This record gives sequence, structure tokens and C-alpha cells, in this order.
Amino acid sequence: MYHSKIVGLGHHVPDTVITNQYLSNLMETTDEWIVERTGIKERRWMNPAQDTVANMAAKATHMALQRANLKETDIDFIVFATITPDYFFPGSGVLLQRELGLDGKIAALDIRNACSGFIYGLSVADQFIKTGMYKNVLVIGAEIQSTALDISTRGRNTAVIFGDGAGAAILQQSDKPGILSTHLHSDGKFAEELYVKDPGSSRPHAERQPEQILDTTTYKVVMNGNQVFKHATTRFMEVIQEALDTNHLKKEDISLLVPHQANLRISQYIQHKLALRDEQVFNNIQHYGNTTAASIPIAMSEAWSQGRIKENDVLCLAAFGSGFTWASALIRW
Ligand code: COA
Repeated sequence: MYHSKIVGLGHHVPDTVITNQYLSNLMETTDEWIVERTGIKERRWMNPAQDTVANMAAKATHMALQRANLKETDIDFIVFATITPDYFFPGSGVLLQRELGLDGKIAALDIRNACSGFIYGLSVADQFIKTGMYKNVLVIGAEIQSTALDISTRGRNTAVIFGDGAGAAILQQSDKPGILSTHLHSDGKFAEELYVKDPGSSRPHAERQPEQILDTTTYKVVMNGNQVFKHATTRFMEVIQEALDTNHLKKEDISLLVPHQANLRISQYIQHKLALRDEQVFNNIQHYGNTTAASIPIAMSEAWSQGRIKENDVLCLAAFGSGFTWASALIRW
């Protein structure tokens, strides 16, 4: 039986900083409202002249490879989590493979589990390593959400929340368990509580012909914020407890919790419920907003570079998002 551990973390965010003040010029909102309800002060939005989901992922990968002391050709499988791929198809996994100069050499798998996508990807990579099929798996979470947002007062409940960026983790076969367990859940009853409807396939032919589309609102992010908030707080707690119970650990054993950066108030609620000290929870939503599948690997990469993850630490990852999907992972560093 093999185990897997994370040997390298990296991230990349676009250069363009979008402040709350800037958004308040485009819609009816204020810095005070956004900070109070979400904790977000600024986020990064892509520059179409230079950023793609795949090339941001490649930059994050290079950082992770360098930190792991590995090279591109050491990677033998790519798992790419995104709900905002560069093309409707193929997924961004193959585009990243090309960016890394690994064309035709390794397989690339795409995952569409929104904010839980990175943990789903980590779980898939962990299983492939445990079976002995692969030795070094690259797991990516990368998104460009900004171009799907309704940047007007009508879309202000989502326009102020989401940001762009990419994070990467390299999982490697190991003698000792690094990834202790992963826990994945979903409930499709709530699919339309947070979604982008189009370009969906199950429409009359005319509705899929771009030249005939008059109403493009179905191409924008729709979110029932209250409903998402309510379910998120419950599911985060459940899935963290499930991970602790599986490993016979207590909440006091968590060295660092890295929650999906959905909303600072959600993170603070979990911290309070678990009675964790500030140094036991990592948040960077203040600077990047919610970057969906990229949020956990960006946060892990920053936490690592700030010396917040040390050998033998117990790291807990937890996420909730569109689907609804939710997930957790417990890691011994
Ligand atoms: N600026 C100013 N006012 C805004 C606003 C904005 N950016 N967005 C919404 N509002 C308004 C609403 O229109 C509403 O006005 P009304 O009372 O006149 O109708 C009022 O603020 C309250 O709206 P509500 O949706 O009840 O606010 P809230 O406290 O729930 O905060 C969210 C809204 C979106 C911040 C919050 O619901 C949330 O964070 N939900 C979870 C989102 C999330 O995590 N999504 C990603 C999951 S991965």
C-alpha cells in the first residue's frame, strides 16, 4: 500500500488589483458593505492580454515544482479543477499539459466541482498514487470568474465576491501517510442556487445559436447568497468533523485549518464553532476574494511561504460550493 504527500505548493494571481472603491464606481455598493458582509478588500481580475486559466496554472506549477525541487518531466498526471475553462471544450488540463511542454506525454483530467474542486482533485490524485499507478501528480485549482460576472447593481451580490487566480500542489508517492483522508459529498437538489446556466446543452437549437440570443443574463453567475451561506456553515462543520472522526483526532489537534475562502464571516463562524485560535486558521480572502477552485491551493501556498505549515502539522482543508458540493481533507505534513 502506497501513501501520498504534498511536496510542493505554488500559486499565481493576475496583476490587476480591483478594489472595493473601484467597484463602487461601477455599481451601487460601498467598501463598508463589502468589508462588513464578506471581509473582502480587493481581488485580482484577469488581463485579457496576458492571463488565461491554463497559463496562470502553469505559473503556479512552476512555483510548486521549484519548491519541490522537481522538473516538468517528473509530473506523470495532471488533475485540473476549474469551472471556468479557457474553452467550452476541451478542458484546461490539456492546455496546461501543452504549456508545460509535456504534449502527448501524460494524461490530463478535468474536474468541475466548483469551490470543492481542488479537494476533489486532491482525492483523485491520492487514489491514483495509492494504487501505485502514478508517482508525481500535479493538482491544480484555477479560475477566471471575473469575465462571467454581471458587473452592475443587478449582479452586485456576486460581482463583489469573486476573483481570479491559480494554485498548484504536487502530490508524491511516500512511505508515510501525508494525505490522511479525503471526504467528498454532493447534493444536486441545490444545483440552481449557485450556477451559470449557459452555454448549456439542453436547450432548443435556436437558443444555442449565439446570433439569436437576445437575453444573455443566463450566461452570468446566479447565486442565492442566503441559501448558500446557510448550507455552507452546516456542511463545513459536518465535513470537518467527519475528517477528524475518521482519523480519531480532536479539533484541538488541527494545527492549521485552510477553509475555502468563500466569505470571511463563514470562516469566522467555523473558527468560533471549533474554538480555534487565530493562528490555527488561514484566511486571505481579504486580498483575493473567492477564487472558487483556486482558493484553497492559493491559501495553502501562501501559508507555506509564511512558515505557517511545519513538519508533522495536521492540516485540515474544507470546502463548500456550487452543486452543492462539499469536501474535506486531513493532511499530516
Ligand atoms: N452592495 C450593497 N448592497 C448589496 C450588495 C452589494 N454588493 N449585494 C447585495 N446587497 C443588498 C441586497 O440587494 C439586499 O438589499 P435589500 O435588503 O434592499 O433587498 C441587502 O444587501 C441584503 O442582502 P442579502 O443577500 O440578505 O445580504 P447578506 O448579508 O446575505 O450578504 C452575501 C450577501 C452574498 C455577501 C452573503 O449572502 C454571502 O456571502 N453568501 C454566501 C456566498 C458564498 O459563499 N458564495 C460562494 C460559495 S462557494
